Amino acid sequence: MTALELRNIRKSYGEELVISDFNLTLERHQVKVLIGASGSGKSTLLRCINLLEEIDDGQILLDGEDISAVDVNADKVRASIGSVFQAFNLFPHLTVLENITLAPRLVHGTEKGQAEFDAMELLERFGLSEKALQYPDLLSGGQQQRVAILRAIICKPKLLLLDEVTSALDPVLIAEVLSLISELKGDGMTMLIATHEMGFAKKVADEVLFLKNGQVLEAGTPLQMLEDPQHLALKNFLFALEQAGRL
Ligand SMILES: Nc1ncnc2c1ncn2[C@@H]1O[C@H](COP(=O)(O)OP(=O)(O)O)[C@@H](O)[C@H]1O
Ligand SMILES: [Mg+2]
Repeated sequence: MTALELRNIRKSYGEELVISDFNLTLERHQVKVLIGASGSGKSTLLRCINLLEEIDDGQILLDGEDISAVDVNADKVRASIGSVFQAFNLFPHLTVLENITLAPRLVHGTEKGQAEFDAMELLERFGLSEKALQYPDLLSGGQQQRVAILRAIICKPKLLLLDEVTSALDPVLIAEVLSLISELKGDGMTMLIATHEMGFAKKVADEVLFLKNGQVLEAGTPLQMLEDPQHLALKNFLFALEQAGRL
């Protein structure tokens, strides 16, 4: 079953066409990775999908429902999509447990006790239960980002969007965040991920899409993309990643 379908998406900021002719199909349990130079449109695309940005043309279907229709309840749609971005956006005045249980309680009406039980179960699974009552600024960046991901999945979203969630972290912390995401892949989570971590993409991605100027210039399995890139722009991009030690 198809979880997400993008049909001919177009998005401009003023005169600048940022996304054009964009088509994508993500089956349930599939993981696709978006790569591309800074400014190629990865974040904009993800922000359009969770309705933080309005598209100018095209359709976005989530589980077959057109969420880009004018009469759609955007809050309801956002409640069924988990999103995590580069900057750790945990609420600093709430504990880890309060951060994670906020959406279940306020958006989904889950009872406090049940929400806390579910949250503790997740925290334990990922080795963070000791942090439950701490405030985010006492945690490492990697721990904060893992909490942000748990917060995004506690309500069992239909789709998880991850936008360069490791790019503000140093290598050891990157590894612990990527390993959590790999586990989610094992759970069958449907994900669309923008990342520069190609080693990681190789492990989890069913398909890698290389974006240039808001379009898919090339797409394929991670192996195809890494070992037999067709376009010069992709070759250059991979070379730059290699130079930066990220391949
Ligand atoms: N809110 C905005 N207003 C105007 N231009 C924007 C905005 N957000 C992104 N852009 C522009 O859209 C293009 C794509 O940006 P972005 O989606 O952030 O790319 P990426 O995530 O691949 O780096 C860039 O040229 C960027 O300057
Ligand atoms: Mg971006």
